[in-house]
Formats: sequence, structure tokens, C-alpha cells
Amino acid sequence: MSASIIDGRAIAAQLRSDVQQDVERFVAETGVTPHLSVVLVGENPASQVYVRNKEKFCVAAGMKSTVHRLSAETTQDELLQLVNELNNAEDVHGILVQLPLPSQIDEQAILDAICSEKDVDAFHPHNVGLLVQGRSRFEPCTPAGCLQLIRSVREDISGLHAVVLGRSEIVGKPMSLLLIQRGADCTVTICHSRTKDLAEITKQADILIAAIGKPNFVTADMVKPGAIVIDVGINRVDKKLVGDVDYDAVAEKADAITPVPGGVGPMTIANLLRNSLRAAQMQTQARRQ
Ligand code: GUN
Repeated sequence: MSASIIDGRAIAAQLRSDVQQDVERFVAETGVTPHLSVVLVGENPASQVYVRNKEKFCVAAGMKSTVHRLSAETTQDELLQLVNELNNAEDVHGILVQLPLPSQIDEQAILDAICSEKDVDAFHPHNVGLLVQGRSRFEPCTPAGCLQLIRSVREDISGLHAVVLGRSEIVGKPMSLLLIQRGADCTVTICHSRTKDLAEITKQADILIAAIGKPNFVTADMVKPGAIVIDVGINRVDKKLVGDVDYDAVAEKADAITPVPGGVGPMTIANLLRNSLRAAQMQTQARRQ
């Protein structure tokens, strides 16, 4: 059996096109152009690529994009001051501080300082709390993308056993929360670096999501025949991008699998655009009440 390949590029393009149409309608109705401000500190090459793509797709969707590029020596106070200015800027609807930040800056303090109504990453404790309670305003971009990819091959995932590898704040934890929400209704197991008998657990997964940052970690013997496998990993090995899943071997066993690149990656930006539009809609409505 050979798995069907989940085409993240095509699914993300469709989502961006939907957002673009909604932006057009919103601008026509309100005269307000959704505006995302991105803050990039330092010169991390991967972050520079991500930020350039965010800017490109924002503009293509009819939104305004501003990028603040700060030196690697920026202090925490300087960054907090910029975040405050963006919080207070009425024409800025979304704020994204690209991670990772240089070591002199406390990442959590910065994420906590972003006004939660403008937190399009959904990293602020207020937004995480709303997600826990199943009433999120912004869905976290990468996990939301993973769920959309899963649903592109299996609309009804109710009762399926989803195993999430990784407990990060950006992917593992919020992914698990989305999967147990009403409407998704999966049974979820979260595994991490201290999990015992990992393969025994992954072999029970109808849906397996790998987000651990270890190249080719998930091998075919860890996968249940017919599983849906979502690979969130982006690892550089010998100048080549590889995921957390041993793709060729696992593709022989799974029912559906995401490639790297071209799987989860494009979905993150598409959902960022969706959240930026939502931020503009919410703030515009609140101001007009
Ligand atoms: N760095 C890698 N992924 C992300 C993301 O989704 N949001 C932000 N702010 N930084 C990142």
C-alpha cells in the first residue's frame, strides 16, 4: 500500500484565496485594511525567510504588512517598548514577534506583553486559556493547519486515537487541545522525550502527529497500517530539509502522509492570514459599538 500524499501547498493556497476574498469584502464594507506588524530581532536565516514569506502572502491577500527589523543586540526593554507602541497603534490589528529571540530576551515576557486581541499567534495566556475552554478567538496557526490537513483526507475523525509526539507550547500542547475539542472528538495521547515504550503507543495511532524536531525519528515499525501521518518537523540535514518522519518507508504503510517541505509549513502562514483578518474584524466591530 502506498499512502496518498497530502498536498499542503494546494490546501494552503485555497485557504489563502478564501481569506483574500473575505479581506476584499471586509475592506469594501468597512474601509479598514487589516494590518499585521511582524517583529524580527537578529539575523536568524530561517526566521528571515519565514518573515519575508509572511510579508509576501499578507500583501497578496490584500492586507497591509509592516516588518520591524531590530538588531541582535536589542534589549528586552527596547523590544517591550516596541510591543507597547504596536499595542497602542489603532491601525495595527495583528502583532507577531518571530521566535526564537536572542538569549538576552525573555521570550515569555514578550509574548505576555502583546495585547491579546492582537495576538495572531495565539500564544498569549489569555488566548491559550480560551483554547483550553474550547472558545478560542484565534486558533494557533500550525496546529490549526495540521487539523485542516487531517480533515482534507478524513472529514469525520470522531473517536479516532490521535497520538501527538511533542509537548511544545507552539505545536504539541495546542494540537492536543484542538483534537479533543467538541467537533474533532479524538482520543488524544501526548508523548514526549520521557515517554516509555513510545513505539507501543505510536503503533496504536489512527492519527500520528510528529512535532519533536528530530530528523527521520518516526520509522515504519512505529506506525499503524492505514494511519494518517502529519509531519511538523523541519530539520536541515546535509543542506536538505527533512521532517521528523522517515518519509519513504512510512509512506508505504500509512493511508495518508504530509511531505516536508510542502506539507504543514504552508498552512501556518495561511492560518496567520486568517487570524489577522479576524483580529481586524473584531477590533473594528468593537470600536463601532
Ligand atoms: N517561529 C517558528 N514558528 C513560529 C510561529 O508560528 N510564530 C512565531 N511568532 N515564531 C515562530
